[in-house]
Order: sequence, then C-alpha cells, then structure tokens
Amino acid sequence: MCGIVGYVGRELAAPFLLQSLKRLEYRGYDSAGIALIEDGRLLRFRRAGKVKDLEASLDVAAFAARVGIGHTRWATHGAPTDDNAHPHLDCSGRIAVIHNGIIENHAVLRHQLEAEGHVFSSQTDTEVLAHLIESLSEGDLLDAVRRAVAQAQGAFAVAVLSQDDPSRIVVAKRGSPLVVGRGEGAGYVSSDVPALLGKATEVQFLLDDEVGEVRCDGYAVFTLDGRPVHRPPHRVSADPIAIQKGGYKHFMLKEIHEQPRSVGETIREKLDEATHALSLPALEKGFADIDHVYFVACGTAFHAAKVAEYLWEDVLPVPTHAVIASEFRLRNPHITPRTLVIAVSQSGETIDTLMAVRRARARGARVVALVNAEQSAIERESDAVVYTRAGIEIGVAATKTFTAQIAALGLVGLALGRRRNPDSEAVCARELAELALLPGRIVEALRVEARIQSLAEQLHRASDVLFLARGVLFPIALEGALKLKEISYIHAEGYPAGEMKHGPIALIDEGKPVVMLASRDIAYEKLLSNMEEVKARKGLVIAVSDAPDDPNLRRLADEVLPVPAATGISAPILFTIPLQLLAYHVAVSLGTDVDQPRNLAKTVTVE
Ligand code: M6R
Repeated sequence: MCGIVGYVGRELAAPFLLQSLKRLEYRGYDSAGIALIEDGRLLRFRRAGKVKDLEASLDVAAFAARVGIGHTRWATHGAPTDDNAHPHLDCSGRIAVIHNGIIENHAVLRHQLEAEGHVFSSQTDTEVLAHLIESLSEGDLLDAVRRAVAQAQGAFAVAVLSQDDPSRIVVAKRGSPLVVGRGEGAGYVSSDVPALLGKATEVQFLLDDEVGEVRCDGYAVFTLDGRPVHRPPHRVSADPIAIQKGGYKHFMLKEIHEQPRSVGETIREKLDEATHALSLPALEKGFADIDHVYFVACGTAFHAAKVAEYLWEDVLPVPTHAVIASEFRLRNPHITPRTLVIAVSQSGETIDTLMAVRRARARGARVVALVNAEQSAIERESDAVVYTRAGIEIGVAATKTFTAQIAALGLVGLALGRRRNPDSEAVCARELAELALLPGRIVEALRVEARIQSLAEQLHRASDVLFLARGVLFPIALEGALKLKEISYIHAEGYPAGEMKHGPIALIDEGKPVVMLASRDIAYEKLLSNMEEVKARKGLVIAVSDAPDDPNLRRLADEVLPVPAATGISAPILFTIPLQLLAYHVAVSLGTDVDQPRNLAKTVTVE
C-alpha cells in the first residue's frame, strides 16, 4: 500500500526521498510525490505513475533542501491522478501532509472545513488532514497535528511538514505502520524499515495514538495527550544488500532462489538437528490444554495455513480450521479460552488478519502470531510470536515467505503434537529427519527452471489455467493459481482434483492447460484417473510429480516437471517451487511488471 518517507538532516533531502521511495515501490502504488522546504518556501511535486516519472520531471540536483517528505500512493479515495497524489496542502500552501490509511470520517470533516471556508483541490480523504491542521494551528505544529488526529477516525500514518517550522517533521500513527529513526546528523521517517537501511542506525516503531517529531538530531515520541514515550530503540541490523537484486532480473526470481536458505534458517532456529529438540519459546506460555485451533490469514498466507490444517491433523488430536481472515470476522467461530488462533502473515500488518486477531482475543482465544517482519501490529496484539526467518521479501508476489510459513507452521504443529499426543512421536521423528534434508532438496527442485522457461513460452498464450491436486497439495494448487494470476494476469483456478467432475471439467477443451500435482503418496492412482479425464478431453496436461519416471504418468502427461520425493512438511514446499517458477517465467514471457504487479500492494493495510 502507500509508502511514507521523511528526512531532516545535513544532507540533501530530495535524492534521499526519491531513492527511499524507490525502495518502497514493492509495497505497490500508482502515484508519487515529495514536498521540500527550500529557501524558506514549501515546494511540492506530484505525479501519477512511477517514482522514476516523478524523478524525470524534476531537476533533482538543483534542490538544496535538507528537509522533506515523500509518498507513494495506492489509490483508495479518488483516482490515481496528479491532483490526488500526496503530499496534500492546506489553503495557505504552508503545510504539507502525506498519509497512509483511510480517514473514515473524512466526509464529515470536509463538510465542516468547507463551511469554515477551506477550499479543497483533491478527492482524497487525506486532504482533510491538511486543512484540519491549518484550522487547529495556534503556532505549534505538533500540537495542531495532535489535535487533528484526535478528531480523525480510521487508520492512519501521517507525516507533516510546515514551512513555518522547517527544523522538524511531525508524525502520528493509528493502525498503519510508521517508524522514526536516527542516523549520522539526520532524523528519518518511514512506513517501512527497508527504506532506511544503510541510513538510520536505530529506529522506533510508533504505537497507535502516538505522535512524534523528527529533527536532525533524532526523534521524540509522545502520547496523544502529550506525555513523552520512552521505549528502547531497535538497532537496524539488516544489510542493504538484502534489498538489492543481486544479479537477478527481478526480486521475485532472487527470492525463489533464496528458498534453500530461507526455509533452512526458519527450521534451524527452531530445531536442533542433532538432538531433534524443538525450541519454540512462544509455546512455553502454555497451550497444552487447547481443544480447537483456527488459523486466520489472507492470500498466500492463507494457503500456508491451509497446508498446516492438513499437516496438523496428523499430529494434533483437536479440530483445526484455516479461515480467511476477512471471513472470520463475519462468522461465529467456536471460541473459548481453550481455543488457539494462529495469525499467519508475512508483513504482520494485514488489516483483515489484524481484525481477526482482535475478534479472537475479544472472545477469549489465545493468539499466536506467525510473522516474518518483526515489531508488527499483529505481533504486538498477540499473546506470543513465532517468526519465519525468510528475510525481507520485496517482490509483491510472496514466494520465500510462503515456504517459510509452511516450515514454521509444520514445526509448531509438531511441537504441540508432541505435548498432546504421545502417538505422534513416530510422525515427528520421521518429519524431523526429513527436514534436515529439505534445503538440499529445494536446490534440486530449482534445477527444473530451464525446462519451465521453455514451457512458459508455450503457456503464456493461455487465457486460463487449471491447477488440480489432492490432499495437502490442494492448497499448493491454490497457491500456484494465485501466483500465476497475480503476476501474469492469466486467469487461473486451483481445485481439489476430486472436484473436477463436479464443475471445472466443463472448462476443459483442446489445449486447455491443466497443471496436476501428482505425488506418489497422495491418492496417486486417483490423480492419474483425473489425468485420463483431462486427456480424454484433449486438455494439455502439465504434471508436477515426485514419480517423474512412471510410464503411466509419462503416457498421460504432455510435460512432466520433476520434484524430489519427500513426505510431510517437505512435500508441499517442494511442489511449490516449480509453480513459482512457472508463474514467474510466464509473466516474464508476457513482459508484465513482475515485482510490482498492477493493482496489488505488498502490505494490505486497508479493509
Ligand atoms: O502480509 P501478509 O502475509 O498478511 O499478506 C497476505 C496477502 O495479502 C498476501 O499473501 C498476498 O496474497 C500476496 N500478494 C501473495 O502473493
């Protein structure tokens, strides 16, 4: 979603703002803008389109400003036009505001402000903040911002620059993420830490209903009623290399190839491979008495949760359900103090998942966050946290975080299973031995890439593609279809193969691509029968299989993509790899914007 950056310090502000906005491009956006204070005057530049379009329209080297704010906007209220791009100004043009989130009472506020004589120039909800701050201003910007956000309803992260107060940027947060930071003679603001890597040495994550100011010597944070907030800062330890492509054409491809390491790190943190002891401090707080489990998640994270639903049934003697977070809120789930809710989210900021967490806790459930980013809202609002150790993921299409989620969820299930069900020990021992081999098997699975590249040449003309699988691979079929549609815009659907006869078979005609996941261990013969059915209707069968040499499979499939044989947690991870590569290479053949697909945002912070 939208991105925020701000700089005040000894160096030139404009180059920093533009570079940082480019680092936030992965969040997804459709327009960009900056505001600077130059020779005592507030200057604003905005443009629909990419940051590079904004940059091309500016003579960046000519700016001497040492303070400024920048924004990438993902349109919610008002089309992605120049006029709706942030920053937005007050009537005097002295106050500039950038904002992530939604001001829910913007219509009421706008009406009041217009009645006072304020003139609006955009259709955005954000602009009300600029006018409200102007209307409440009695000389102190921080005070005016504090009073303005107290009147605002909804979710927001805000950064404000005033021509009358060029030594600081004022910020406020409720709902949407915001960090302030300090570095060598500089203060920073951002919606996301990656924008500050290599610059800020320490950062502070604002909590809801906190305001702050950022100056060239650092930052200060306050509660909405003015009390200073003192929390230990966080060292910025990630390497800026993590947000570079490292020779790959796209971040997505780099992240696909990082999976031996990201899955390996996720496992190593939790499993002593020598003793098979599992170390999950989050679970030490109890959970031995749980009698029901819900996973709540969205998108790809939901597919990982769905995999866990299958895996946990093998080890935990309690019902488990994966529920799409936005639906969880609309249902009446069975929740008691013995219910465990696992919130799965790469970003830890997805608003639907956060709302599901709030609902679950309000009803007395215990909540564990399973997240990749540290210090997120979902982590803060949960009873305990388990991290995936995938590293920063820049590609909007989730890849390495998905496989890390499956690995982490699998291990959490084994740890709980060991406590609750002595019979699960045999499953655990087999699983843990297999997991030690998994990073090497992922390396092997990646070797199929050259074949997928030539297959993609053929598939990129398809108008839609079916993905079929059974059992624990069914969620992988869902994920394969999601990946393809997200980045290639080709329509794709994932189905349990057993459902094909109940509807989707009507779609199959000559040449229709059907990707079928065939594991020796999962209803293999039935899957081959489904393949026969597709073949009989002249569909194009692309089999992904751990039995690639089976003559029956070879007879039916037009193409066979091999994956290393494995069971349990490892199998869904290994079957994912060819599907990620397939989506990637089809998208490359089509020339789409792989890392920033249209309309999508990396972190979805509006409902
Ligand atoms: O940050 P989260 O894991 O909570 O994000 C959930 C979904 O928005 C996300 O997985 C989305 O579906 C991705 N675009 C998948 O590639």
